[in-house]
Amino acid sequence: MKILFIGMGYVGTTMSTALAMAGHLVTGFDVDEEKISSLKEGKLYFHEPELQEMMVERIRNKQLFFTTDPQKAIEGHDIIFITVGTPSLSSGKADLRYIKKAAEMIGRYKASEKIVVIKSTVPIGTTRNLEQWVQSSSVDSSLLHTAMNPEFLREGNALHDALNPDRIVIGSESSKALHTLTKLYQAFHCPIVTTSSQAAEMIKYASNAFLATKISFINEIARLCDQKKIEIQDVSKGMGLDHRIGPAFLQAGLGYGGSCFPKDTKELLWTAENSGCPLHILQEAEKVNQSQPQYFIDKIKQKVGPLEKKKAAVFGLSFKPHTDDTRESVSFSTIEKLLLEKAQVQVHDPVVKLTKNWLDQGVEQFPSAYAAAKDCDFIVICTDWPEYGELDWGKIHSLMKDGSIFDGRNMLDAVYLKSLGFHYQGIGYE
Ligand code: UDX
Repeated sequence: MKILFIGMGYVGTTMSTALAMAGHLVTGFDVDEEKISSLKEGKLYFHEPELQEMMVERIRNKQLFFTTDPQKAIEGHDIIFITVGTPSLSSGKADLRYIKKAAEMIGRYKASEKIVVIKSTVPIGTTRNLEQWVQSSSVDSSLLHTAMNPEFLREGNALHDALNPDRIVIGSESSKALHTLTKLYQAFHCPIVTTSSQAAEMIKYASNAFLATKISFINEIARLCDQKKIEIQDVSKGMGLDHRIGPAFLQAGLGYGGSCFPKDTKELLWTAENSGCPLHILQEAEKVNQSQPQYFIDKIKQKVGPLEKKKAAVFGLSFKPHTDDTRESVSFSTIEKLLLEKAQVQVHDPVVKLTKNWLDQGVEQFPSAYAAAKDCDFIVICTDWPEYGELDWGKIHSLMKDGSIFDGRNMLDAVYLKSLGFHYQGIGYE
């Protein structure tokens, strides 16, 4: 099939590559000329393992194309996916301006029957409004079918997740859209859930809200484990082996960040509140998440005393490993709190570069974890980049002023580090 993607962000770029790999002819459109010329040259403008290599292969095989020409893009494709951003407004509500712009653009150049599919995460009811947004800028009277097909891929694992989904959800009121999209995904061997567009929208929000709640749940249990001197890792393992619970998203730490969980929980809370049906559990999950960095700073203070003039090394700036995305990264709320306590902060991250705003506040970035740790009183691990597990920790101990490690991702080997003379503290005992 010939498919168009509007919006070449993480989801659009990954899914256009994945569908080209599944044998379809795919074009990626974006209004950003810089992004498109970089993609045309086979260069990803963000860090995502394996994606660039696969993208280059599909461009070479003439299965994947990129363009900034809206007329050619819309006229030449009957199946159009919208993968633009839906960021949060200050109220928590999702900002639909880019969805509306994409719809207007489709309307302007539509000259034949189209299937338009929203893949971005959008509030309940958006897909039902899509037809009106497209038609309001269109003079064409041929049929328009709309659908919602949420995406569940995780950054850092994007291509793998896109190619190996647990399920595919297709929501539509059009039988043609349901039939065509089911056929489009036939190379993906997983259950396909076909439903209404509103149910598909809700499935995406409820899934992300549930996973966010699972993380906050285990983080609260970890606080109790701190009090009772119980190892949270053992608790997570023992719980996760129950197949009804499962081991994923039970890793206690500094909390969740990223471009999805914080934004999507806010939107769902907003919708629930405005429907007269507040979601109390999710409200608390969000509160726990927001207070988690402060909880950890208080633990650090209990051990090292006032942080004024203390030198802290922060390891990891991205919101999770294997990405350079720093949106809603808890690393920055942790750095903010360290600065408020008047600590000196030196940072390291394998791929993220600090912006001027942070450098102006006196935060220093070093190209190696060793250089960042030099003369420090303590290290705070904020992102579980695997390379931190492979550092020469004996060397780091000798470089530091005082050997304290506060592991906000419970990723390091506590027994080994203690044997080297470190004071080690994770979240949930140790
Ligand atoms: C998430 C959803 O998983 C994905 O299905 C959706 O499409 C987009 O949002 P993403 O934000 O890319 O994906 O990353 P994810 O792996 O879910 O991690 C989100 C945050 O939760 C990270 O900050 C991570 O560090 C944190 N996390 C994750 C935990 O603190 N503990 C865990 O056990 C798992």
